[in-house]
Amino acid sequence: MPSATVETLARGSAGLFLYPDRRHLLGLEGIPRDELLALLEEAQRYRAMLDRPGESTRELAGVTVCNAFFENSTRTRVSFELAEQRLSATAVSFSAADSSTAKGETLLDTLRVIQSMRVDLVAVRHGSSGAASFLARHLEAGVINAGDGAHEHPTQGLLDLLTLRQAWNGRFEGRRIAIVGDVAHSRVARSAFHGLRALGVKVAVAGPATLMPRGVERLGVSVAASLEEAMEGADAVMALRLQRERMEQGLLASLGEYARVFGVNERRVRLMKPDAVVMHPGPMNRGIEISPAVADGERSVILDQVTNGVAVRCAVLLRCAAALAGRAR
Ligand code: NCD
Repeated sequence: MPSATVETLARGSAGLFLYPDRRHLLGLEGIPRDELLALLEEAQRYRAMLDRPGESTRELAGVTVCNAFFENSTRTRVSFELAEQRLSATAVSFSAADSSTAKGETLLDTLRVIQSMRVDLVAVRHGSSGAASFLARHLEAGVINAGDGAHEHPTQGLLDLLTLRQAWNGRFEGRRIAIVGDVAHSRVARSAFHGLRALGVKVAVAGPATLMPRGVERLGVSVAASLEEAMEGADAVMALRLQRERMEQGLLASLGEYARVFGVNERRVRLMKPDAVVMHPGPMNRGIEISPAVADGERSVILDQVTNGVAVRCAVLLRCAAALAGRAR
C-alpha cells in the first residue's frame, strides 16, 4: 500500500480503530458493544453520503480489494463492489463458477494466487462454515466474511442493525424483535443474534422445530411457541429465507403449510407495535416466508436494508484497510 494511503488511513481511523489487528471481519460474535456502535455511526455517515447523488471519497485510493464469491450472490457482491468504488479502491470480483476452482484448485491455493497479485483485502463468500477464518489464518491480506456456510454473515448483521438504528431512532435497549423461519441454516440469523445481544435487544425466534437448532437459547434468544407469540408487541420482525439448498430432505412437510403457519402476513404484522418494521435479508420467496403485500407494504424496510448494505460495507472496508495500514507502519 502506498505510504500516503497508509498515513491517510491511520489518521482517519482515530477512535474507531484502536485494535491493532482488526484487518479481518470474520463474524459479530464477541464484538465489543463500543466497536459495534462506532461501526454503525461510521456506516450512518456513509449512508448520508450515498443519499447525496454522485458523491465519493478517496479514502481507499491505493487499496486493492478482491471480492471472491464461491456461492451465488446478488446484493452482497454488488454492494461490496459499489462500496469499493465509492471509496476509490481498486477492486476486482470473481465467482467460483468462472474461476480455476472449477478445475480443482483448492480454496487456499486460489486465494494465495489472488494475494500474490498484491491484493490487500478479500471479501469472501463460501459454502463452508469456517472458510473465512481458515483463510484469515493463512493469508496476509485482510479477510472480510461475506457469508460462510450457516455460520456468520457479519456485514449483513451490521446492515440489519443499521436499519434498526434508523427505525428505532438510535435506541436499542428495551426493544424486541421476532426472527422467523429457517434459523437452522441461517448465517444471517446467527450474526443478527450476536449483534442484537451486544446492543441489549430481546430476540424471540419462531419456526418449525426441524429448522430450529437445538440449544439456540445459548445464543441469548428465546424460542416462541408460535409466530403470533413472537410477533405480539414486537418492534420489528425479520423473516428468513427458507434455505432449501442447504436442507436435507424431509425437514419441511409442505411449502403451503409453512406459509400458513410461519408466513409473515398482514394479519400477523398487525400484532406488532404500530411503528414496527418488517425486514428480510433477501432473496425473498414471496408468498412463502413473506406475503407480497407485506414485502411491498408501508412497514417494509427491505430495500433500506439493501441501501444500508453499501454504507456498512464502506465502513467495514475502511476499518480493515486502516488496521492493515497500521500493521504496515
Ligand atoms: C443471505 C445469504 O446469502 O446469506 N442473503 C444475503 O446475503 N442478503 C440470505 C439468504 O441467502 O437467504
